[in-house]
Amino acid sequence: MSLHSSLTMSLLSFSFLLLFTFSAKAIVPPSETFRFVNDGEFGPYVVEYGANYRVISIANAPFQLAFYNTTSNAFTLALRMATTRSESLFRWVWEANRGNPVRENATFSLGTDGNLVLADADGRIAWQSNTANKAVVGFQLLPNGNMVLHDSNGKFIWQSFDHPTDTLLVGQSLRAGGATKLVSRASAQNNVNGAYSLVMEPKQLVLQYKGMNSSKPLVYFKSSVWPNTQDGTLQTVTLNVEETNDGFAYDVLLDYTVANSSIGTGNLILTRPKYNSTLSILRLGIDGNLRVFTYYDKVDSQAWEETFTLFSRDSVWGNECELPERCGNFGLCEENQCVACPSPNGLLGWSRNCQQKKVNCRPNDFGYYKLEGVNHFMSQYNEGEGIKESDCGRKCTSDCNCLGYFYHRETSKCWIANELKTLAKTSNSSHVGYIKAPNK
Ligand SMILES: *[C@@H]1O[C@H](CO)[C@@H](O)[C@H](O)[C@H]1NC(C)=O
Ligand SMILES: *[C@@H]1O[C@H](CO)[C@@H](O)[C@H](O)[C@H]1NC(C)=O
Ligand SMILES: *[C@@H]1O[C@H](CO)[C@@H](O)[C@H](O)[C@H]1NC(C)=O
Ligand SMILES: *[C@@H]1O[C@H](CO)[C@@H](O)[C@H](O)[C@H]1NC(C)=O
Ligand SMILES: *[C@@H]1O[C@H](CO)[C@@H](O)[C@H](O)[C@H]1NC(C)=O
Ligand SMILES: *[C@@H]1O[C@H](CO)[C@@H](O)[C@H](O)[C@H]1NC(C)=O
Repeated sequence: MSLHSSLTMSLLSFSFLLLFTFSAKAIVPPSETFRFVNDGEFGPYVVEYGANYRVISIANAPFQLAFYNTTSNAFTLALRMATTRSESLFRWVWEANRGNPVRENATFSLGTDGNLVLADADGRIAWQSNTANKAVVGFQLLPNGNMVLHDSNGKFIWQSFDHPTDTLLVGQSLRAGGATKLVSRASAQNNVNGAYSLVMEPKQLVLQYKGMNSSKPLVYFKSSVWPNTQDGTLQTVTLNVEETNDGFAYDVLLDYTVANSSIGTGNLILTRPKYNSTLSILRLGIDGNLRVFTYYDKVDSQAWEETFTLFSRDSVWGNECELPERCGNFGLCEENQCVACPSPNGLLGWSRNCQQKKVNCRPNDFGYYKLEGVNHFMSQYNEGEGIKESDCGRKCTSDCNCLGYFYHRETSKCWIANELKTLAKTSNSSHVGYIKAPNK
């Protein structure tokens, strides 16, 4: 044996010894480890997104862990909410691997090293908790739906509550320095990030839209009475439920904390169901709407109710016409409905196929047609540029990505649109829009 290799050997055994003594008391006992394989029959109940699913034996009613798929052989490991007893829709309230599906025979396991791993059938790691050798001794799914890896003192080394996708459970937070946003799902079938996010910015909670052509996210909702701060920094926004009125009502609220401000905390009551609404979720939907769904486990069917909808006919916060894609790629919206498809020849009947005619980039090849009394979703919460109406037009003309421009005459503000989407009818005729159209 050469000197070199024996040195390596002793170094190796030394570090091995070190590792061993170091982690001797911080190992997951074999009885606490698990390994589940994604195979077998699909379950019989109706779940969100029309998915197929297989539950695994990690559960704490009304939560169960499962593999689900909405396209062939592309599975997401997710937490499901509802009980079979209630015969109600099962909702997916947390998931490990959006945008990175696994296949048949994938495994979900907790090894003695304390790492939680979702691996594809070929061994490729699709997702992990990154908690190997961090003193984890056990895994638990808590009654509130939080999955935790804890050490021997019960301290959480990792928790699923720190990793939301499009849903907050009661007690779950957006957190500065951690997950600061929820991101919508692209479509029922396609489980990748969609265009919408609910973002806890340093100063306020906002909803943002980023379409395929948007150069930056556009705000489509914010409010001075939603979680915000003038002087400090938002630290947490948490979904909570509180019994009030001697138990006759339950407040579903967003509690928030602020650092470096005289106002250290605040809350916003979203809705007030008249029954125990402890089992509620806040969901940023595929359509960009923000909703609370409440599950009432005392009933034996239809246990879910939509108890809050941010944009709706009855909402004090906004109507459906303020949802960027309410009318698809292009449409005029009035009183929550898509009423017309604008065209150079006037307003036509709206359909899902309503589109702006393709324009090319040469200024001689296109013109504009004008719409009076319209608001683009962008013009409500995004600061426009204070320039003359004619300069606003020149700006759009010289910008190939500009599909049209919007102008508020009374404030002389200009918005250049890279996405048209939904235009909301307004009685204010000084709000005008100009849409590019080919000269033929
Ligand atoms: C789920 O995947 C299986 C194959 O693994 C496929 O047979 C089934 O149709 C898929 N379900 C859905 C809803 O696409
Ligand atoms: C899953 O693994 C089992 C056992 O190795 C094998 O029989 C089966 O064909 C695999 N399923 C798929 C879809 O590859
Ligand atoms: C609070 O203010 C102190 C002093 O100005 C600063 O060091 C700290 O970073 C601030 N904290 C946050 C969360 O903004
Ligand atoms: C409300 O519901 C939760 C969840 O089911 C339950 O833990 C709690 O005890 C209920 N509260 C009352 C007052 O019944
Ligand atoms: C993106 O912009 C191009 C022109 O720049 C346009 O043809 C296309 O329809 C736009 N796509 C969407 C989804 O708005
Ligand atoms: C139009 O909106 C502006 C503010 O955006 C307002 O000052 C003006 O009074 C409105 N006009 C009408 C007719 O509503």
